[in-house]
Amino acid sequence: MPEEDRPKVGPRHVAIIMDGNGRWAQARGRPRLFGHHAGAKRVREVLEACEDLGVEYLTIFAFSTENWKRTQTEVAGLMSLFRRYITQETKALNEKNVRVRFIGDRVRLDNKLVTLMDQLETLTGDNDGVQLTIAINYGGRDEVARATRRLAEDVAAGKLNPVDVDEETLPRYLDTRVLPDPDLVIRTSGEARISNFLLWQSAYSEYEFIDTLWPDFTAEELARLCKGYGARDRRYGTVKA
Ligand code: IPE
Ligand code: IPE
Ligand code: MG
Repeated sequence: MPEEDRPKVGPRHVAIIMDGNGRWAQARGRPRLFGHHAGAKRVREVLEACEDLGVEYLTIFAFSTENWKRTQTEVAGLMSLFRRYITQETKALNEKNVRVRFIGDRVRLDNKLVTLMDQLETLTGDNDGVQLTIAINYGGRDEVARATRRLAEDVAAGKLNPVDVDEETLPRYLDTRVLPDPDLVIRTSGEARISNFLLWQSAYSEYEFIDTLWPDFTAEELARLCKGYGARDRRYGTVKA
């Protein structure tokens, strides 16, 4: 990547709502799953670009808690794609020193997939390259509800005092507890909504809604968005002196 394309102050954590696979396939007269397969192939290039751009954390939205409402064919196809993706990419991810984590509720996922997820997390657990987090059966509301349940259990068990519950305590119960908040959230496909992604964590994130459909997203586009991020003024409610 040419030096002038590298952002001076780039985002440390980029989160992406990978949307538009279905429309991409439809435009080619192909089934939606064809689009999902094309979309999965984009992740490799984007991960490599993160390394180039100095992005330490990449979080990608692969399947939402609402996506179960799709046809059984599409849901089963996506689950099988996740199993295949993990199996096929494990070696390359580990060799590239990527640390992989999964967020979302695993309870509804099939055992085979959960085993693959656990194995990949364990295998890459000591890697200190790009930290890739994949959100599967993830919903921001569901995550906050599950976190609150665990927090309430700790209160009931006398491990936590209700007066100590604050903005520092609650995120320790979220799936993302070890991750910094995303600096930049990108959504592809032209929709300007967050569809239940990282609700708590993105309170002060910068957003980019772009028209590109996810299977067409490139490293160059990510570089452009990271550069744009560098030019933004994050005020966090303050006024500059
Ligand atoms: C995003 O692409 C992938 C998932 C939600 C699993 P879509 O499948 O939502 O594609 P569109 O939005 O229908 O084009
Ligand atoms: C959000 O996309 C979820 C993922 C990208 C995994 P959707 O396509 O499910 O969101 P809506 O339905 O357009 O809001
Ligand atoms: Mg969509």
